Amino acid sequence: MPVTLNILENIVRLAGEIALSHFNDLQNLEISQKSPRDFVTAADVAVEKFLQKELADKYPEYGFWGEESGKTEYQDQRWIVDPIDGTHSFAKGQYFWSISVALEIDGELIIGAVFAPALDDYYCAQKDKGAFKNGKKISVSNELDLANSMVGTGFACLRSYLEENNLERFGRIAQRTTGQRRFGSAAMDMCLVADGQIDAFWEQELNLYDIAAGALIVLEAGGTVTDFKGNNGIFPKQILASNGGILKELLTLM
Ligand code: IPD
Ligand code: CA
Ligand code: CA
Repeated sequence: MPVTLNILENIVRLAGEIALSHFNDLQNLEISQKSPRDFVTAADVAVEKFLQKELADKYPEYGFWGEESGKTEYQDQRWIVDPIDGTHSFAKGQYFWSISVALEIDGELIIGAVFAPALDDYYCAQKDKGAFKNGKKISVSNELDLANSMVGTGFACLRSYLEENNLERFGRIAQRTTGQRRFGSAAMDMCLVADGQIDAFWEQELNLYDIAAGALIVLEAGGTVTDFKGNNGIFPKQILASNGGILKELLTLM
């Protein structure tokens, strides 16, 4: 059975119900630390388990890579899954967290979905078929002036105790833009670029599962996905998504 956006949406929305059942019972949420500044909850594990089983039942031919369970043997054609992106926000009862699912076939992203159950916002894209939010086509903003732009970022680099981190870069860029946001879910940050809600997003030290689905959604919405030097591609250690219009000026500050 071919993978379609509708079939994937049904599965991801069911995963969203599992996530919300935990989100609506936070006083009983089991939470543990994977490493300093990195949490995992029973919701992360339950959502990933559900997605791995559902996707394997429907598409046994594909491998799976989930943040919490790791990689199955077959990885040439695989699902790339972050069951809860923004776990810390989730655990604090905030609404800005998401479920991110991407299908990668021989190194190429084919389908991506990012669902924010607490906001009931569902973003998706299929290669060469556009990007959508709640069923409506979306596109990046037409902002051309960095000085008037709103940008998003994150600080995974601090979790990795990186010497060369994002603090100075953030300060430089903050002084040359109008709005700066740190929403707490990189997968959603990418979707906000695709939807024109922010004009660019960058972060260091992520993993592919944080951004795979979001990257396809940005590209299908007419945006750019590069590293901090402007090289096109998906670089989890140095990801920069933009509307294209402010990219050249932004790169001078990266
Ligand atoms: C985190 C979120 C956050 C980013 C962190 C990620 P997680 O994902 O995407 O926005 O800044 O670096 O690890 O750990 O909650 O899945
Ligand atoms: Ca994540
Ligand atoms: Ca996660």
